[in-house]
Amino acid sequence: MASSNALRTLGLQHIARGVGRSTNLVISKASGSYVYTVEGKKYLDLTTGIGVTSTGHCHPKVVKAAQEQVGKLVHGQVNLFFHEPMVKLIEKLKPIMPSKQLDTFFFWNSGAEAVEAAIKLARHATGKHNIIVMQGSYHGRTVGTMSLTTSKTIYSAGFGPLMPGVYVTPFPYTLHSPTQKAVPQDTLRHDLCIEYAIEQLELLLKQQTAPSDTAALIMESVLGEGGYVVPPKEYVQRVREICDKHGILLIADEVQSGFGRTGKYFAIQHADVVPDIMVMAKGIASGFPISGIVSRKELMDKQPPGSMGGTYSGNAVSCAAAIATLEVMEEENLLKNVQERSKEIFSRLNNELVPLLQQHDIKVDVRGLGLMIGVEFYGNGLAGLQKKLNSKVSDAVAGQCYQNDMLVLTTSVYDTIRLIPALNITKEESAIALDTLIKSAKEVLN
Ligand SMILES: Cc1ncc(COP(=O)(O)O)c(C=O)c1O
Repeated sequence: MASSNALRTLGLQHIARGVGRSTNLVISKASGSYVYTVEGKKYLDLTTGIGVTSTGHCHPKVVKAAQEQVGKLVHGQVNLFFHEPMVKLIEKLKPIMPSKQLDTFFFWNSGAEAVEAAIKLARHATGKHNIIVMQGSYHGRTVGTMSLTTSKTIYSAGFGPLMPGVYVTPFPYTLHSPTQKAVPQDTLRHDLCIEYAIEQLELLLKQQTAPSDTAALIMESVLGEGGYVVPPKEYVQRVREICDKHGILLIADEVQSGFGRTGKYFAIQHADVVPDIMVMAKGIASGFPISGIVSRKELMDKQPPGSMGGTYSGNAVSCAAAIATLEVMEEENLLKNVQERSKEIFSRLNNELVPLLQQHDIKVDVRGLGLMIGVEFYGNGLAGLQKKLNSKVSDAVAGQCYQNDMLVLTTSVYDTIRLIPALNITKEESAIALDTLIKSAKEVLN
């Protein structure tokens, strides 16, 4: 086998530079919560390939299901056939949907494609064209979805013109809400932030995009790339009411927050809200490429046959892997594992990491749901430490974790670490992860 140096050199030379990369590791295998380099060095993986390998890397049951499917049928093109794994997958998905009314599915490959499908559905079903997105949102990198993405300019700068008819409303991100300016730093006034965000949405509908022109409002049920921010339940419910009042469809982007990541199958269930269209991808098949949307039959059936599809839509092997993933989630009671590990992680972050940073006059906002956890550094001492480190604190800590054989991601334009381990991470692995994170933070601070 070629050495990792040779492979890395080839990769650096011939893979598009536009693909950002947080490590230059060359990996050859992965199992559970660990990935292994070509040389056999082992890293604890708290990234899960950005929230994808939900049942851990290469879960034996998922691998077996895919292997068996490869031997039977790889490609059963969706515009030509029904294939068994897709129909069986629907049977598995239906009972876990946030409502029985969400009963009609369309499968695609990536999250961005599924978001595109949701936009097509919303426009077609309502006969309207404008879309409202949240400030700080991430919906993908295709031409359509980069136009809906407001988490960072890197995704669209220089690639315009963007899709017209997109309007941005503030996400209820209390820490950075203008309403916080008049409030002592120690208190997060979510109530003020909710009022502000709702007022802005109502203004947007009066001043910029009339309800009669607005097809949909799309929102991540937990803001992902924008910083792992959980919208308060009251806010989501009021958005639902505004959408209902104006005949605007609510699209929940559950690409990152779905399939058990937050301790419920879908994060929007924490708010007791049912969307009109839900977008799914990532964790659904533990790493096999498949995405989808679900909506009400009466909306989906308005689309004429032939208007939807795609060569690889709902690939048979990916569908088989998705069924196996859902079976693993049930058999291994992964929602419970998510809830239990989450409690332990939150407790250690609050009891160990927060006081550590306090000594440097830095505050830490530990937030999230289940195993979708954000750790944001802010406060008076932050700028000084960033200057000393010549980087964000989150980047420095993630870099140190890497030196300590653990992979973690950062997120957002603010100084934030994100933790998205496998849903089946064990108690022992999660303790090692927290030991490593806290040790790395200490090393950065010293
Ligand atoms: C919330 C959300 N929507 C959409 C996407 C796009 O998914 P993909 O990268 O599979 O196109 C992502 C990817 O990170 C995401 O987090």
